[in-house]
Amino acid sequence: MGTLHILDHPLIQHKLSILRDKNTGVKEFREVVGEISALMCYEATRNLPTVEVEVETPVAVAKTRVLSGKKLAIVPILRAGLGMVDAMIDLIPSAKVGHIGLYRDPETHEPVEYYCKMPPDISERQVFVVDPMLATGGSATAAIRLLKEKYGCRNITLMDIIAAPEGVQTVRRDHPDVDIFVASVDERLDENAYITPGLGDAGDRIFGTK
Ligand code: PRP
Ligand code: URA
Repeated sequence: MGTLHILDHPLIQHKLSILRDKNTGVKEFREVVGEISALMCYEATRNLPTVEVEVETPVAVAKTRVLSGKKLAIVPILRAGLGMVDAMIDLIPSAKVGHIGLYRDPETHEPVEYYCKMPPDISERQVFVVDPMLATGGSATAAIRLLKEKYGCRNITLMDIIAAPEGVQTVRRDHPDVDIFVASVDERLDENAYITPGLGDAGDRIFGTK
């Protein structure tokens, strides 16, 4: 069974408070989504394999460790997931980026796919699916299903900033092999399937569309 990791690091929790605040403007919101994504990426990549190499320092030869060549991919769920990508690419420049476009139908709250483009060797990569919000879990579980069934991905990790218990339950039921990293599991969903207390609409707050 995959593990649910709730990242309670003080820096992550401090930045999450800024994101929750309704008075945080678009520029700061976008910047803090990037900062929290970098901190979460640091935790989510903690178990990546490394290999020993020798490096010549100006003084002597050092035995040191580098990533063992495992190939990674970052797959944001559009739109809001885009806000998390740059910070992660800064940390893992060799990662490739695939995009999945999904939006929630406002009536049914079911995910509707409108775009998909993956690196050709995605099935060989460890994939980090990223999206700030895991609400009903419909979008995440559909994205992971697509990656498994259409692209043959076998090694998938999900990273969300805020989750609702319902979303965590859905992903764990449908994809028990997937590790989930979140900064918070909030109380519940409201009648519009928004996370309560949450932070509102992540896509709108990142891109200033409301
Ligand atoms: C939001 C969010 C997730 C999804 C979560 O996207 O970024 O993708 O809803 O909800 P779920 O767990 O119930 O599926 P939205 O559909 O609002 O699209 P956007 O990113 O384009 O704003
Ligand atoms: N999508 C969001 O952006 N926020 C929520 O609370 C739920 C879905």
